Amino acid sequence: MLSWRDSKGGYGLASIVLHWLTALLIVALLAVAIYADSLPRDEGRPLRFLHVSLGLLFIPAYLVRLYWRGRSGHPKTHYGSGLVTFWGEITWRVLLLAPAIMIATGPFLSWLHGRPLSFFGLFDIASPLAKDHDLRVTLAEVHTFVGYTILAFLALHLAGVIKHLAIDKENILRRMIVPSQPDQE
Ligand code: HEM
Repeated sequence: MLSWRDSKGGYGLASIVLHWLTALLIVALLAVAIYADSLPRDEGRPLRFLHVSLGLLFIPAYLVRLYWRGRSGHPKTHYGSGLVTFWGEITWRVLLLAPAIMIATGPFLSWLHGRPLSFFGLFDIASPLAKDHDLRVTLAEVHTFVGYTILAFLALHLAGVIKHLAIDKENILRRMIVPSQPDQE
């Protein structure tokens, strides 16, 4: 039987769906933002619009994921020790918590510019604030710095997965694809 909840040693369906949904959105948000920034200001506008719309989708997905991890804890899936496990733990924490800074700063980058947040043109969320160029510049620096930090830790996370698959011959991808069996009561 498929279990929504995590077991003591593995992830249930809810954790798996939330992991891949937020991972996909983070990769798309990074790709769109970085590509938009490489284009001349006018040409990058539709991509910035897409970044904000995806960001608005990301906010509820991330908050549900954070709530679910807080509720379920962190199943014991790693049994190593030493430096590699230490880095694995740091990477896990950064990837789980750093997006909070992105959702706390992102909306203000549009609002402080005097623009509403638009969700694919379907509805707008008007700015509750007056324009403030200096504050926007500071928050944009924080948003960009943390964005690139997330990118670096994503690379570490991927390197860890490849190490498990190629060197340890341990198929750790399976537990993020196939839900674990529920614990026996
Ligand atoms: C994990 C989630 C997010 C990631 C990884 C991310 C990533 C980034 C990065 C890397 C940039 C800077 C691009 C550059 O200048 O090189 C950026 C800019 C921006 N982001 Fe995000 N972002 C996220 C969430 C959000 C959210 C939730 C919103 C708002 C709903 C948002 C709104 C913006 C805006 C308005 C900009 C500035 C675009 C401009 O230059 O006008 N971001 N983001």
